[in-house]
Amino acid sequence: MSPPLDGMRRLHLDDAATPRGRRRRVAAFVVMGGDGGHSMTGVMGVAADALSPITVREASAADQPAVEAFLDQHATAFVARLGELVDARLPPALIATDGERLVGVLTWIAHADSFEVLTLHVLEPWRGTGTALLDGARRLAASLECRRMWLITTNDNTDALRFYQRRGFRLARLHPGAVDRSRRLLKPSIPEIGDHGIPLRDELELELALDSGG
Ligand SMILES: CC(C)(COP(=O)(O)OP(=O)(O)OC[C@H]1O[C@@H](n2cnc3c(N)ncnc32)[C@H](O)[C@@H]1OP(=O)(O)O)[C@@H](O)C(=O)NCCC(=O)NCCS
Repeated sequence: MSPPLDGMRRLHLDDAATPRGRRRRVAAFVVMGGDGGHSMTGVMGVAADALSPITVREASAADQPAVEAFLDQHATAFVARLGELVDARLPPALIATDGERLVGVLTWIAHADSFEVLTLHVLEPWRGTGTALLDGARRLAASLECRRMWLITTNDNTDALRFYQRRGFRLARLHPGAVDRSRRLLKPSIPEIGDHGIPLRDELELELALDSGG
């Protein structure tokens, strides 16, 4: 059962323009629920192009096969970051569903007092799925009394750098050559050239302080 809903926030997406130049008239609402404990539910209704509403929730054991297939499909079952190869199928996940379809997965790791977003991938970008998952993770991190959220991305991932910075994250650390080392020592399948034809070399750490309520 979902916990009681405790808030509603209007997203300013009316008549939003996508970066690909398409324009869609959109009315979107995020309804977040929480009980102060670890359980949380985020529900996002998007009335656009006959798309079904997106629901965000914690993955259950029954969701695990679908989560693993999704991570495989997005080539992110194993994440090389900070000199370590992490199996992203092991930590807990938040999932976004659209009816029966799994449309997004965020895996996370709780450290001493910080919350790491290990992976975040969506099936269809520019629909609000990533934002709904990140909002869910932020609430979860706050409920776990984490003081900051953080994540590692790579120097070529300009979409992610834009996405996270527009949602309050700051550039915290640069790990020069970290991807080159991971390719050599941990994950030879990492390509030499990343998004936009950018040589894939470095890791960037982004963080969001949660002290003032995130
Ligand atoms: C980065 C990523 C997770 C973002 O997810 P997403 O679902 O596309 O994100 P959203 O749709 O919530 O937000 C993206 C933009 O679309 C806009 N948007 C959302 N719904 C929209 C709609 N219905 N119509 C028009 N625009 C919309 C948002 O406002 C946002 O723009 P803004 O940043 O200017 O506010 C996704 O691009 C992805 O999976 N990338 C590949 C994996 C990756 O790089 N992960 C991050 C590294 S850890």
